[in-house]
Amino acid sequence: MSSVSEQPLITRTAEFIREKFLHEGSGHDWAHIRRVWQVARALAHNTPGADALVTELGALLHDVADWKFHDGDEEAGPRAARQWLESQQAPEAVIARVEAIIREISFKGLGVATPMSSIEGELVQDADRLDAIGAIGVARAFAYGGHKGRPLHDPAVPPVEHATFESYKQNTAPTINHFYEKLLHLRERLNTPAARRVAEERHAFMEQFLQQFLREWEGQDVARS
Ligand code: ADP
Ligand code: NI
Repeated sequence: MSSVSEQPLITRTAEFIREKFLHEGSGHDWAHIRRVWQVARALAHNTPGADALVTELGALLHDVADWKFHDGDEEAGPRAARQWLESQQAPEAVIARVEAIIREISFKGLGVATPMSSIEGELVQDADRLDAIGAIGVARAFAYGGHKGRPLHDPAVPPVEHATFESYKQNTAPTINHFYEKLLHLRERLNTPAARRVAEERHAFMEQFLQQFLREWEGQDVARS
């Protein structure tokens, strides 16, 4: 249960992350983390047995040192989270649970299962995945692709179902492929009914976006007018 004495740790962590990510330009910015934090907090509020402190710290720290920006080092995130929480004298039990969330949360390719070992982890993963779909998800995908200098689309490059994290990590495909390799599948991979309900409209919006994008790509809308 969250108590008044725990508030300062959450507040200090939010401030630490806000300063670190305020000017991030790849779609992993503070605004993303704040949305994940708010959504995870709301999910925790409606989930009996979920620990609010672990959920909120997990959400705030989930992208603290993403492997995508640390030479593929999957341990960079868990390590950075532990370092921060130790510096704040958080209890070891809390640190270990937050560390596990960060280790387990990432999408690792369509063919790779990513089960979470705690309820709190399931909530943070759902909140993170909801922010990767819908209108925000579309915007973040192209922000990320632009950051990496990738083309929007190339019909000659087919989407790939990555069977290992290694092959997913090495992917440099055009951004449209990312929808078929990940984003359109997130709806089925959510943990909670509440998140699945939110995902319906966001998923439908992405499908509509892709349909329109591909129509415009081929000039079909022009040919008809
Ligand atoms: P995850 O925890 O599943 O790795 P993150 O929250 O760290 O997801 O952020 C992933 C964000 O970056 C998503 O919005 C996703 O669409 C975007 N992204 C990641 N890889 C790519 C890619 N290859 N092309 C386009 N967008 C990408
Ligand atoms: Ni994230």
